[in-house]
Amino acid sequence: MDESERLEILTEASRRRTFAIISHPDAGKTTLTEKFLLYAGAIAEAGAVKARTGRRDTRSDWMAMEQERGISVTSTALQFEYRGAWINLLDTPGHRDFSEDTYRVLTAVDAVVMVLDTAKGIETQTLKLFEVCRSLGLPMLTYLNKFDRPGKAPLELLDEIEDKIGVRPTPMTWPVGIPGEFRGVIDRVTGVFTRFERSVRGRTMATEVPLDASVAAAEEGPAWENAVDECALLEAVGATHDQASFLSGKTSPLFVGSAMNNFGVRALLDAVVDLVPSPSPRRSIDGELRPLDAPLAGFVFKIQANMDPSHRDHVAFVRICSGRFVRGVTLTHAVTGRTFSTKYASSLFGADRSTIEVAYPGDVVGLVNAGELRIGDALYARNPVVFPSFPQFAPEIFRRVRVKDPGRAKQFRRGLEQLEREGVLQVLYELDGDPLPVLAAVGEMQFEVFHYRMEHEFGAVVEFLPTPYRVARVISSDGAALLGRIPGVRVLRRGDDTLLVLFESQVRLQTVERDHPEVDFGMLLGSG
Ligand code: G4P
Repeated sequence: MDESERLEILTEASRRRTFAIISHPDAGKTTLTEKFLLYAGAIAEAGAVKARTGRRDTRSDWMAMEQERGISVTSTALQFEYRGAWINLLDTPGHRDFSEDTYRVLTAVDAVVMVLDTAKGIETQTLKLFEVCRSLGLPMLTYLNKFDRPGKAPLELLDEIEDKIGVRPTPMTWPVGIPGEFRGVIDRVTGVFTRFERSVRGRTMATEVPLDASVAAAEEGPAWENAVDECALLEAVGATHDQASFLSGKTSPLFVGSAMNNFGVRALLDAVVDLVPSPSPRRSIDGELRPLDAPLAGFVFKIQANMDPSHRDHVAFVRICSGRFVRGVTLTHAVTGRTFSTKYASSLFGADRSTIEVAYPGDVVGLVNAGELRIGDALYARNPVVFPSFPQFAPEIFRRVRVKDPGRAKQFRRGLEQLEREGVLQVLYELDGDPLPVLAAVGEMQFEVFHYRMEHEFGAVVEFLPTPYRVARVISSDGAALLGRIPGVRVLRRGDDTLLVLFESQVRLQTVERDHPEVDFGMLLGSG
């Protein structure tokens, strides 16, 4: 690699901001995403993304399920430019249940924005997602949304955030007026007041009127005085932004606004550019950091198949970690050592695909018809690398599965293989060769997705049979030989040859652990 190419890669990487929004359903993630696009000039009017989604739903059966359930199941990577930065916004699936694919998307970002509904504060899903962010060491910005409606007092919310997730919010803006009677915000750094003025249905950018403190004091009266007092209090308790504590996940810069009314969106987007770190070198499995200007490498964090039945396709989403990707470059798949061309690489904007020509660290490339790739796999152009594998989450629901019509056994097998590869759920097999596999997942939703896709994409209607198992641990083959004969304990083999031992309850696991101290039970993430 010559010096100019190296410089180009480092410069481009430093312009990248790759992040995701996490929130409880309905807190406003979709609205905020769209408003980011509006403020970045990627769309001219708000409303476009929803219309896009509507069109997409009618095109695909798979999307029809999203529509029926009113949820977003699939994930999209948006890329747009703002103030000279290239922003990659990865959409975390909005399942009601937590699932592994959310975790995987979060492995591909450098920071998150946590959106809270001012009336509701930290909700169950926010809490679960936050735990994942913490385990990944991701810095977090916080956005208090829906401040145009009655809600909790902001100081109360700061306490709630700190109590529930152990991260100290450091407000960058502070509201003037209570939720529902929102007048605007004070910028805590400059002291300037920005008055909140609605635009028609929030379609276009909100007018932002900066006013000096003296004018604000005269015009806003007690609401202003109260806000100034609260800012003094924040100052006194040290709730002030510090970049190092933000990067280490101890504090979270906080913004107040209303995504629907476009308020506070610009300040938040500015913070994405100014505060979110650009991509940094990623650690490989041997513990070494692969510099950003090392030869091209990336890893697969998401696989999506059959998004559109008219194209029977299979897209592997790769986060670029080092080097420069140029469409057509030949990549090596670290697991198999096989090479393949990347002639069909795409970036996704909503449901529309466009061909991607070049990408840098932090970017996401969708490789079309890369059927052999699995989640977590590394790809490289030169200088082999393997990245640490993703932790598997401890499944909590275990069900046997069979195809209703034995004449569809071939379709069933094909679907099982595909959905396992995509990581929809884990597939476990009996060691004695019982042909009925056991499906294991963290949430109920994964079974529903499996059932739906088996029927609609592979033409195999399946039924689930209950099993008594509730808890799983990873085990060695020696341990498996010892425990396999104990009643109420079952050892199964996963597709990747890992042995899992299943128990009917946590109590059963504890007794077996006590009776067999010689056996090492490997934990899975989230197993408690
Ligand atoms: P999600 O992706 O996190 O699930 O949330 P989404 O953006 O879809 O927002 C959920 C609902 O909250 C939507 O209302 C949306 O309009 C509303 N909302 C988002 N931001 C604000 C805000 O700042 N203030 C207020 N008052 N409401 C907000 P909906 O009725 O479900 O949908 P729609 O009829 O508006 O399309």
